[in-house]
Amino acid sequence: MKIAVSGKGGVGKTTVSALLAAAWALRGRGVIAVDADPDANLASALGVPADEQITPLCEMEEMIAERTGAKDQYGGYFKLNPRVDDLPEKYARRIGEHIHLLVLGGVSKGGGGCICPATTVLKALLVYLVLGRDEAIVMDMEAGIEHLGRATAQSMDALLLVVDDGPWSVQTALRIKKLAGDLGLKNLFAVANRMGDGTGNPADPATLAAIAGRLDGIPLIGQLPCDRRLAAGVLTAADGQVRPSQATLAHLPAIQAVLDQLDRRVGA
Ligand SMILES: Nc1ncnc2c1ncn2[C@@H]1O[C@H](COP(=O)(O)OP(=O)(O)OP(=O)(O)O)[C@@H](O)[C@H]1O
Ligand SMILES: [Mg+2]
Repeated sequence: MKIAVSGKGGVGKTTVSALLAAAWALRGRGVIAVDADPDANLASALGVPADEQITPLCEMEEMIAERTGAKDQYGGYFKLNPRVDDLPEKYARRIGEHIHLLVLGGVSKGGGGCICPATTVLKALLVYLVLGRDEAIVMDMEAGIEHLGRATAQSMDALLLVVDDGPWSVQTALRIKKLAGDLGLKNLFAVANRMGDGTGNPADPATLAAIAGRLDGIPLIGQLPCDRRLAAGVLTAADGQVRPSQATLAHLPAIQAVLDQLDRRVGA
């Protein structure tokens, strides 16, 4: 199952991505968690200590030069099919037994048509991840999917759009739906985040139905309650042990239900 997560800024993409990774890991499934947001914070959500700097792949100039043969960042000739199949093992941050985290960095910097060496490596890596790996993949994206190449987009099993109860996140979801169509990414789903009255209870059916009704046919396959404890992270690390946070344990059934829906509807 390879899932990209997108949606409006601040709606909960990183939290949902981390919860999906955690839910898979707790089922004993290998996961590659990809932070494809230039403003990366998936590592923090997955319990990587704040003082640990993870260098994004796009800033690894030596690796990029070695892989592409590029002499400098922009000019000259360079390979368009760099080797990338060893990058996950070499550069991923391992989190617990089951999760590999890859931080891509500013993948979208040059826009969709950019073919600088760094983007070439990252795009090749994305294609390799969706086509060449058995692990589950969850990709935390920014509020758009422009930088997913066609090959990657068409091979993703699903795009999960995070929305909330406000008007703007659904508008963003609908804009992303159009981009997804242009890229050939077929399976779109939505999940409603920060639902309920803040006490951890789910939203009432009428609220959910109202959101679903504005989604222009994108199936709403689950909801996560508003729970301030999620701000402390989805996984926590102490004494070399990675554990789900209290909030994650509380909302595990809700996120497992989203995974089950995806399994059923995408059939992976
Ligand atoms: N269900 C929830 N209940 C309470 N707080 C939440 C919930 N989901 C996310 N948050 C909090 O809201 C903030 C934004 O969430 P998050 O970083 O996951 O959103 P994002 O869409 O990834 O944001 P960005 O666009 O900046 O990448 C964070 O502080 C997070 O802890
Ligand atoms: Mg985020």
